[in-house]
Amino acid sequence: PSLNEILHLYDFEAVASRILTTETWSFYNCAAGDEISYRDNHYAFLRIWLRPRIMRDVTHIDMSTKILGYYSSFPLYISATALGKLGHPLGEVVLTRAAHSHGIIQMIPNFASCSLDEMTIARKEGQIQFFQLYINKNRDISRKVIQKAQEKGYKALVVTVDVPSVGNREKDVRMKYTGAPPGIQNEKDLNRDQGVLTPEDAILAAEYGCDGIVLSNHGGRQLDFAPSAIEVLPNVIEGLKKSGLLGKIEVYIDGGIRRGSDIFKAIALGAKAVGIGRPLLYAMSSYGQAGVERALQILKDEFETVMRLSGTNMIADICPNMIDSKSLSNH
Ligand code: FNR
Repeated sequence: PSLNEILHLYDFEAVASRILTTETWSFYNCAAGDEISYRDNHYAFLRIWLRPRIMRDVTHIDMSTKILGYYSSFPLYISATALGKLGHPLGEVVLTRAAHSHGIIQMIPNFASCSLDEMTIARKEGQIQFFQLYINKNRDISRKVIQKAQEKGYKALVVTVDVPSVGNREKDVRMKYTGAPPGIQNEKDLNRDQGVLTPEDAILAAEYGCDGIVLSNHGGRQLDFAPSAIEVLPNVIEGLKKSGLLGKIEVYIDGGIRRGSDIFKAIALGAKAVGIGRPLLYAMSSYGQAGVERALQILKDEFETVMRLSGTNMIADICPNMIDSKSLSNH
C-alpha cells in the first residue's frame, strides 16, 4: 500500500512482515519464550479506560513536554533498537532524521549498525540524542565508549540493565541467527544487573542518583512473564512517593505503545514520556524516513485527539483521575 493508505501503526507491521527477509523479521519481531510478556505489553493498555471530561476549552492543545530537561514536541521518544541496517540500508540515521522532523529525542543504541560518526553527522543543529549503553565487564571499554559519546555531544547516558544474558528468543534460534550483535553474545562480557520493574529497584536507582529510569521488559525480549511496564508503573510511582524520592527521578516506560491513547494512559499513571521500538523499525524498513515520519505523525494526531476528547489541553492536565485503571493489574 502507499503511505497514504497506512492508517495506524499495525499497518506498518503488516507491510514489514511481508517485505522483510525472514531473518530480519524474526530479529525485529521476536520476543522471549511464549511471548506472553510481549503480548501483554500492549494488551495491558486495553485494561485501562478513559474518564473523559466535557465542556472544557480544548481549542488549543499543547502536547509538548520535557525529557530530562530537553524539549520534546510530545511525550514520546525513540527507544534504542540495535541493528537498524538489517531493515534499511541507512540504518539508525533514518530514525535520526525523522526524530528531528518531529522534534523528539532519539536514543542511540550502543549496538547501532551506523557508526557514532555517521549518526553525529546526521544530527541537525540543536537536535538532542541520548546514548544507550550496555556495560562491559571490562570497565575501561565502557569508560572509553562513554567518553566518546560525551565528546560526540550525546546529552544523557541510558544504561541498559536487563541483559545479563540474551533472552530465549525462539524465532531467532529457529533462524539459526541469534540477532545479538557480537559484543553481547558472550554473557561473560556483560554486567549482571536486574531490570527496573519493581519499586525496590526504582528506589535504589533514585538513591544512587539516576536522573531517570525506564520501566521496561525490553519489549518482552528478555524474561518471559516479566510484567509489562504500564502494569508496574502505579506501584513504582507509589513506592517512590512513599520514600520521598518521586521529585528526584523521572519515570519513563516502554513496551507495547501502539496508539495515542497508550501514551495518554501512561502519562496519567505518572510516566513523564514513553519510548517506542518495533513500530518505527517496521515503518523505517517499509517506507524509509517518510514512513517513520508518518508513524510519528499518526501517533501525534491520535494523542492530540485523545487529549482533546478527554478535555485536557496540556500535559499537566493528564492526571490519574483521567483514567480508570481498576482492571489493570492481573495480580
Ligand atoms: C530492542 N531493545 C533494545 N534495548 C536496548 O537497550 N538496547 C538494544 O540494543 C535494544 N535492541 C533492540 C532491538 C530490537 C529489534 C527491539 C525490538 C528492541 C528494546 C527497546 O529499547 C525497547 O525496550 C522495546 O523495543 C520497546 O518495546 P516495543 O515498542 O518494541 O513494543
